Amino acid sequence: MKKKKIGVLISGGGSNLQALIEACAAADYPAEISVVISNKESAYGLNRAREHHIPAHIINHKDYETREAFDDAMHTLLMHHQVDIVCLAGFMRLLSPAFVKRWQDRMLNIHPSLLPAFKGAHAHEDVLASGVRFSGCTVHFVRPEMDSGPVIVQAVVPVLPQDTLETLAARVLEQEHRIYPLALRWLAEGRLSVSGNKVMVKSAKAADGALINPL
Ligand code: GRF
Repeated sequence: MKKKKIGVLISGGGSNLQALIEACAAADYPAEISVVISNKESAYGLNRAREHHIPAHIINHKDYETREAFDDAMHTLLMHHQVDIVCLAGFMRLLSPAFVKRWQDRMLNIHPSLLPAFKGAHAHEDVLASGVRFSGCTVHFVRPEMDSGPVIVQAVVPVLPQDTLETLAARVLEQEHRIYPLALRWLAEGRLSVSGNKVMVKSAKAADGALINPL
């Protein structure tokens, strides 16, 4: 099995990047990370990549006059590393429609809410303010509108009465680290098909030919 090459885009701490690095370390995982790109020099995730000898680059959006020029620079680097699949992991920039189209159904994002509820950069604050009893996280294919696109997998967590931003975020993050590697595995194994806004996950075959339920 030829492993798919992954490019991970980050802006911050990179704990999801870390979860993907750890998943990729397994011999039977169908993907490997070829390059990590951050738009912020201070992103701690860059250190995580370097520790694992993964090429880590900074492309500062402030060095580019337009969103398209910034996206083109990222695209060139992704091509240079022969990337098959892009994973957004805490990447805090909106991408141009042209870039999104180039990576149509080959680019994933993780968001810390049960989409389509609570889009945007303040999901946990909004969840706590709304009084909902459950939150969670979503891995989805990327479309040009922020935090939209066909949902691949979600995990649900309770929202507890005593929750703070920190406790809720930590509970959700634990699930993010489970479902991101899972969704990437399915995509890398060619088991996802997209029809409109719906994603079908095909079962895998075990060595004895039995079907393994995807969940
Ligand atoms: C995560 O909550 C992710 O869902 C959101 O940004 C956060 C990034 O965290 N998109 P990390 O950088 O992966 O630790």
